[in-house]
Amino acid sequence: MPSTPQWLESWTPAGGARRVRTVFSRAFDGGAPDGVWFAPGRVNLIGEHTDYNAGLCLPTALPHRTYVALRAREDDVVRLVSAQAPDEPWETKLSEVAPGSVGGWGSYVAGVAWALAEAGHTVHGFDAAVDSCVPFGAGLSSSASLECAFAVAIDDVSALGLADDDAGRTELVDACRRAENEIAGAPTGGLDQSASLRCAEGRALLLDFRPGLSAVESGREVPFDPASAGLELLVVDTRAPHALVDGQYGARRAACERAAALLGLANLREIAPDGLDAALAELAPHDGDGVLARRVRHVVTETERTARFVELVSRGLVAEVGPLMTASHASLRDDYEVSCRELDLVVDTAMAAGAVGARMTGGGFGGSAIALVPRDDVERVATTVDQAFADAGLAAPAFLAAPPSAGAGAV
Ligand code: GLA
Repeated sequence: MPSTPQWLESWTPAGGARRVRTVFSRAFDGGAPDGVWFAPGRVNLIGEHTDYNAGLCLPTALPHRTYVALRAREDDVVRLVSAQAPDEPWETKLSEVAPGSVGGWGSYVAGVAWALAEAGHTVHGFDAAVDSCVPFGAGLSSSASLECAFAVAIDDVSALGLADDDAGRTELVDACRRAENEIAGAPTGGLDQSASLRCAEGRALLLDFRPGLSAVESGREVPFDPASAGLELLVVDTRAPHALVDGQYGARRAACERAAALLGLANLREIAPDGLDAALAELAPHDGDGVLARRVRHVVTETERTARFVELVSRGLVAEVGPLMTASHASLRDDYEVSCRELDLVVDTAMAAGAVGARMTGGGFGGSAIALVPRDDVERVATTVDQAFADAGLAAPAFLAAPPSAGAGAV
């Protein structure tokens, strides 16, 4: 039987709002929320595992979003329900939220309220419902989209005004990142939250994670219009289980910090591309198995590739970025060692079927890959990838169309 690729459609804002209002009213005695807010998942075009190394990343927002219907309360109680976890309603008091005190999916939400309060804002409790078409566990930032949807909702009902401009949004990014790092306990680096809160429709967002930059310096919109070159960005969720993700992610981060410390640097961004060989020579006596050298080489070359990618798309040369994407994948596979069989299969199959570039996106060890594909070949490339998975005895992947979409907001 020929393969039939399964496409994960995104919801229209009106459709997402309708669904989440229904979830809200069923859970909270037929009541209505104060409003509905959303935040998107993301793909990263290039610049992987660079955010926590003060490097460059280049995400776009997906049209797939998490929707939140929320009603403010006078007290500090938080009550949550989710269409994705119907058997796990979640409740806490904000006064009881602290690092290590809460667990489960609601910790990502309570963490945002906690971090905003830590930053000096007055935040009350709320009743809220969640529904989402961002696939869970696909490396497309479903958790960041959950945090960021709540960030803009709380911002709005608390009249903080942070979502009104990019500087305020970078404060919301910080709150969401703290929620994830300190309350949910995931040591991630800020790429996902920045993408979900700061991306704009039809654009990619160049993020620079060097410490101490202003909002304007840390994020810049970059034109990214694959359609103008007759191309489309195809996302493939491999549905590969993420074994040991957390430990492996933390281990990569620790190796980078160790290498920077051995070199006497604050971070690996301080190594200029033409200083890479000297840095590797300096590390060699401390690096018997060469692991640190491989990690450092990935980080330094990846930020350089990201800068070149931005240069090309800024000149309208989208069709020429393919080799940079494919080189990024090879570096993540061979030097950073965060790819897996399923991700490599997507990349190799898509390239053989006519993609101009392909790479894993996000943290790796499973999750999703992206391919830049001539528009007329998208269906054929998807079918070929689907068939390759079937031939390899793997579970069927899922496919998403990913035109660069808007960041978080109110519906
Ligand atoms: C995950 C993390 C991000 C980033 C990427 C890799 O998505 O949440 O902070 O480190 O991996 O680029």
